[in-house]
Amino acid sequence: METTLVLIKPGGVSRNLIGEITRRIEARSLRVAGMKLIRAERATVEEHYSEHRERPFFGSVCDYLTSGPVIAMAVEGENAVKAIRAMMGATNPLEATPGTVRGDFALTIDDNLTHSSSDPEAAARELKLWFPEGLPH
Ligand code: PPS
Repeated sequence: METTLVLIKPGGVSRNLIGEITRRIEARSLRVAGMKLIRAERATVEEHYSEHRERPFFGSVCDYLTSGPVIAMAVEGENAVKAIRAMMGATNPLEATPGTVRGDFALTIDDNLTHSSSDPEAAARELKLWFPEGLPH
């Protein structure tokens, strides 16, 4: 069993895609183990993307993630990290396969709707950051 982090970014929330994205996750027999709608603190987002601090898009991606409410979701299941990454599709929506969330609903990398943890180590770090209170039992 693995638990991974999914963020529905402000564009996904404002386009009313919370239900659609969550429906797909649950339909895959993955379990929503934690979920909250929050206005993220800048410090949380900067820590989340800290490995990209030197990249040119760091400032704009942090601006974007703090521009409106986001959904933070913990998703549990067998091979959840890989399964969720595949369901979300390639980071650049132009390269995302139809049938994935990005391939169906996104067009540009600066509004690619979701984040999902890249591997189990990243998932553990990110879940601690976004759910410091822990997950409900
Ligand atoms: S990956 O898959 O994490 O290795 O992708 P990477 O290309 O390294 O990008 C890391 C995160 O930065 C986001 N990103 C951008 N945001 C806004 N504008 C531009 N140009 C841009 N390029 C990359 C990308 O979506 C990744 O964030 P997440 O939240 O994981 O999608």
